[in-house]
Amino acid sequence: MRLVRTVSELQTLADRERAAGRRIALVPTMGALHAGHLSLVEAARARADLVWLSVFVNPTQFDEPADLAAYPEVLEEDLAACRAAGVDLVFAPAAAEMYPDGAQTWVEVTDLTAPLCGASRPGHFRGVTTVVAKLLLAAKPHVAVFGEKDFQQLAVIRRMVQDLHFDVEIAAAPIAREPDGLALSSRNRNLREDARSQATALAAALGAAERAVAAGERRSAALLHLVTTELSKAPDAAIDYAELRDPDSLETAPPVLAGPTLLALAVTFPAARGERVRLIDNRVLRPLPRSR
Ligand code: PAJ
Repeated sequence: MRLVRTVSELQTLADRERAAGRRIALVPTMGALHAGHLSLVEAARARADLVWLSVFVNPTQFDEPADLAAYPEVLEEDLAACRAAGVDLVFAPAAAEMYPDGAQTWVEVTDLTAPLCGASRPGHFRGVTTVVAKLLLAAKPHVAVFGEKDFQQLAVIRRMVQDLHFDVEIAAAPIAREPDGLALSSRNRNLREDARSQATALAAALGAAERAVAAGERRSAALLHLVTTELSKAPDAAIDYAELRDPDSLETAPPVLAGPTLLALAVTFPAARGERVRLIDNRVLRPLPRSR
């Protein structure tokens, strides 16, 4: 497995592999790899000859300096996990490599970044789209794989790729979960011990909404009431948002659901150290066809 630190070396390798007719899949990450990231590696392998994974804790997508400071950085562990998973190349640039001195160019998707995490985390998605654009230009992959765990991020990246004519396919992988339902996240390790068990409330709330929809419930208000009731069973949970939205446009869902609808949650819990830990999760609810 090769470790690459500079954009120019990565671009040279990409040109070489492309000229040899090999398909490159890129898995962008911020490291602290877990089984969710590794499920993206598997999805990448199914779509390409070479799996390249980037590890870069992108400073421009953190709206809170404390959040950036608390973000786990464990490159040696990540390299071992990548080796074990059969990753062909890891790109782990320094911040100054991705943002050369005097950098002042940004990529910004507008409407899709307004609600949900965009509303709670000003500037977050501008950082995400800018770094993902840079990573795509550096690795020149045929396909890049992202997780549905970050549903809005996936929608925003698809939009950017379409709008800017990036010659890359964007593939999505389903949410990987712990046995108790908690969506895998690098942030889970920052939870205070007693908050870890409370964090299953997100998956419980999604499950409750899904069951209600399967039983015929279509009223947005009733579903959101069910979700907040379920989340309030976790005494230390604070809801950042719990919303029903159109899965394509991310516009607010109508009072009575008419088709597939995104239920998106962001909830904070006490941290082992310092600030609270913010967890996100989501599910697309699929109302039954209306019987007459
Ligand atoms: P990070 O949070 O490290 O996540 C990297 C990728 O792993 C994202 O596509 C994310 O959706 C996916 N992922 C995380 N947890 C997952 C889970 N439980 N199941 C499935 N996929 C999961 O997302 C980022 O980094 C950054 O914003 C990045 C795109 C790398 C840009 O900096």
